Amino acid sequence: MRLKDKVAVITGAGKGIGAAIAKRFAAEGAKLVICDLNEENVQDVVKEIEGRGGAVLGFKVDVTDRSAIESMVKQAVSDFGTIDILVNNAGIVKDVMLHKMKEEDWDIVMNVNLKGAFNMVQAVIGIMREKSYGKIINVSSAGRFGNVGQTNYSASKEAIVGFTRSLAKEAGGKGINVNAIAPGTIVTDMYAGIPEHIRDMMKYITPLARAGQPEEVANLCLFLASDEASYITGQCIHCDGGIFMP
Ligand SMILES: NC(=O)c1ccc[n+]([C@@H]2O[C@H](COP(=O)([O-])OP(=O)(O)OC[C@H]3O[C@@H](n4cnc5c(N)ncnc54)[C@H](O)[C@@H]3O)[C@@H](O)[C@H]2O)c1
Repeated sequence: MRLKDKVAVITGAGKGIGAAIAKRFAAEGAKLVICDLNEENVQDVVKEIEGRGGAVLGFKVDVTDRSAIESMVKQAVSDFGTIDILVNNAGIVKDVMLHKMKEEDWDIVMNVNLKGAFNMVQAVIGIMREKSYGKIINVSSAGRFGNVGQTNYSASKEAIVGFTRSLAKEAGGKGINVNAIAPGTIVTDMYAGIPEHIRDMMKYITPLARAGQPEEVANLCLFLASDEASYITGQCIHCDGGIFMP
């Protein structure tokens, strides 16, 4: 087991990529602390993991709510003793052309996708620094390179890479690896929201000629969360079928 007894916090784990990461980590022996805006979904994931004998705590937590995050982390440390891994996966889109974008469309995307990660890291970094061990994985997107209708989303997903690099430089001396992953088109509800002609176009320009599955992203995340990736930090690794080759 590649994450035996490691304690992993995963945000936005009620469905999609976050749920796939949670299930993969649990199968590799991690104790999980999962949260989502949607309580029903998060409890479904909890039940599934517990049904397979996994140890998991589920919370309804909004990553923009610092006091809710603080309570979750407190509970996690009280139940599991520590936190080893943080996956900042919670993310949203509010796609619209910039000239029609409302200020709140900009603010909510930045608050969830970027500040949410900042909030989560601030809540756990002290625990990691104290024991000189930690793995932080921030979920960016191939969309960081820019897409029509996604000025807010692209800005948030490119910013999270800068955040990742700076934090990797700050925390490396404390044994903490900080990396980002950039999924391409992955079959989740977020992908279902993309118009069909755009999905077809994306498939056409993707070297692997298909959309990806959440489990394929979870595999990359597992590698970065494990000690197999001990000498990798400050990177943004794409899992996108080759759609972008930076
Ligand atoms: N699906 C894709 O094609 C794709 C591609 C690139 C990057 N991503 C990124 O992967 C991550 C997961 O995306 P997904 O496709 O699984 O999306 P999804 O919409 O299926 O799931 C996202 C989950 O995050 C939760 N969430 C949203 N806002 C939250 C908040 N404020 N606090 C806590 N939880 C919140 C939602 O309730 C949902 O359960 C996101 O960061 C997304 O930007 C997805």
